[in-house]
Amino acid sequence: MSPKNAKGPVDLEGTAATEAQIAVHWREEGYFYPPAKFIGQANASDPGIFDRFSEKNYPECFNEYADLLSWDQYWHTTLDTSNAPFWKWFVGGKLNASYNCVDRHLAKDRNKPAIIWVPEPEDADTQVITYQELYMRINEFAALLNGFTDLRTGDVATFHMPMVPELPVAMLACARLGIIHSQVFGGFSGAACGGRIADSKSRVLITMDGYYRNGELVDHKVKADEAVARALEEGVVVEKVLVFRRRPGEYASQSPMVPGRDFFVDELMADYRGQIVEPVSMPAEAPLFIMYSSGTTGRPKGCQHSTGGYLAYVTGTSKYYQDIHPEDTYWCAADIGWITGHSYIVYGPLSLGTTSVMYEGLPTYPDAGRPWRIAERLGVTTFHTAPTTIRMLRKLGPDEPAKYNYHFKHMTTVGEPIEPDVWRWYHDVVGKGDAVIVDTWWQTENGGFLGSTLPALHPMKPGSCGPAVIGIFPEILDENGDKVDAGSGIAGNICIRNPWPGIFQTIWGDPDRFVKTYYEKYNKDPKSTDWRDWPYFANDGAMQAGDGYYRILGRVDDVINVSGHRLGTKELESACLMVEEVAEAAAVPVVDQVRGHAVEMYISLKPGVEASPAIQNKVSQMIETEIGKIARPKNVWIVSDMPKTRSGKIMRRVIAGISNFTDVGDITTLANPDVVNDIRHFVQSEKVAHGDEPRELTEEELKAVKSFGHAE
Ligand code: WTA
Repeated sequence: MSPKNAKGPVDLEGTAATEAQIAVHWREEGYFYPPAKFIGQANASDPGIFDRFSEKNYPECFNEYADLLSWDQYWHTTLDTSNAPFWKWFVGGKLNASYNCVDRHLAKDRNKPAIIWVPEPEDADTQVITYQELYMRINEFAALLNGFTDLRTGDVATFHMPMVPELPVAMLACARLGIIHSQVFGGFSGAACGGRIADSKSRVLITMDGYYRNGELVDHKVKADEAVARALEEGVVVEKVLVFRRRPGEYASQSPMVPGRDFFVDELMADYRGQIVEPVSMPAEAPLFIMYSSGTTGRPKGCQHSTGGYLAYVTGTSKYYQDIHPEDTYWCAADIGWITGHSYIVYGPLSLGTTSVMYEGLPTYPDAGRPWRIAERLGVTTFHTAPTTIRMLRKLGPDEPAKYNYHFKHMTTVGEPIEPDVWRWYHDVVGKGDAVIVDTWWQTENGGFLGSTLPALHPMKPGSCGPAVIGIFPEILDENGDKVDAGSGIAGNICIRNPWPGIFQTIWGDPDRFVKTYYEKYNKDPKSTDWRDWPYFANDGAMQAGDGYYRILGRVDDVINVSGHRLGTKELESACLMVEEVAEAAAVPVVDQVRGHAVEMYISLKPGVEASPAIQNKVSQMIETEIGKIARPKNVWIVSDMPKTRSGKIMRRVIAGISNFTDVGDITTLANPDVVNDIRHFVQSEKVAHGDEPRELTEEELKAVKSFGHAE
């Protein structure tokens, strides 16, 4: 069956898909070809690379990635599967990540910019940090960690840092000592940070007093106090809070420094100036960092990444897929608080010795021309961002790129499916028709890319990430574990058949959950030590076209993606339930032109409690405190009852249908089908009264609404 040109609502029942499969309809897009100029300079332009990384050469093919690094001791085993599915890569090998990202470039490139940092205020000076200076700053901070804290190799330090150069400095200082860093996205609330401190049992928090965002100097230190208090409630004592000052010597926060606990880094630093700390030679499988990812159950998952496998994987994929050359000026506009920033602002680019640009603030501050001015001023060659940012820049400044004289050769999109229309604007207007685009599909858990075109060797297809990256062998399975064929027009669960070096090692402190979430579903034999029996279940829905390109539908479970930030519905709902009056809560995504999706909350109240705007406000406030501003719901609807299955599960897909004015689907299995009409009438008439009736949804949006809550 070939993909149809469906218009209007997608009728899931009207296709050949069985109940175990997901049916999708979409238009096939045409190819775009890489410009000859790009191909001529690409790191991977010889198709022989496909053979080198073909299945017959697996797993040894990945030695080619590891060989891009400098090792203190070479590994004896490329892949050890003896404790499946806890894979070990490059066993016996020893290396240091900080050495690989900095020290090894000094001989040739000490005066080359490693990081160019652009502060948000446009009249403030750009900071150019050379490899030599980065080396000094990392060493001094490592000396401070050694001398002033009890942190030792194998301990965890939590960071709650904004987008400032002190963040990669602190990360690489930890890496130098074998201390595991856990950076929590700076925009997250103090409570969210505190929960992550408690989960990782860190005794040290590294933060900053304030930072610029949308023209304001935001008070950030106040969140450290909330974080420490929250961690304490969960039984973890933070002994030291190290506070960088955004403007050394001036304090940007209203929150008092707690004597004996809080220390200004710039004051402590006087004792460590100029000190050099030898990098600790770490086993390849020693953890390098933890990155928390939202899941469907309340507790976020601490994805633990390795030193050797991770660094090899991000270095290799940066080289071939980001096409990074040492002489490039590469700007990934993600936040280092997300995995994209770890892999493709810090570790990958610096390991390859290129110049990595960091920007502090909002891409649309003071106007939507800002990114293009930065690109023009710094001569950015390679640009990397997310669909949500592209949509926002297109909305606020569709004609801005043309006004600036910059030239990208390569651009990336990551984090959620990109609508073909938005892709074309990115290509034609931002890229001026002259840059290749890679649409890179992967996850916090994966360390680096899983799906993408190899930019000089594959044509691009808007809306599809492309084939699997080299050395990755996916398959799409239905609920019964049967293969879904390429070109069938049917989607299923995308799995990766083989381990790869960037895969996370475990969920911090919860190995059972690791196995259960990612491997149990399709495991063929729990005792097997053969990797072939352990397909990795990515928890994403996907469809493979006849040409082998994948189109990703998003999570098969119920995570809400707001501006590329994945929010677990369970996390949102548990925050609501912290409001005394609330009995039940359900979070659903509502299509939002700029943010992709926004959150809408449905709550029902405890008996005897009257509905009131005060309760709605409390709920919004609680979500903001517990999770962060980005999660603030667009609406909080108070309903008398939720649509539920007979086993009592709230049917989120039904209310998502109501919120988005789409079909609610089959409700015959509900225990209380009557409430559906009541809720629909109430919510939709309120929305219409407030002018909030959405325009007709596109196929993509409909698909997203439909697939939400699918796992139920
Ligand atoms: C989604 C971000 C379509 C997907 C690196 C995945 C994408 C989740 C793409 C991981 C893409 C990411 N096309 N969907 N190019 N990239 N996703 O952990 O659902 O923040 O599972 O990692 O985002 O998000 P995470």
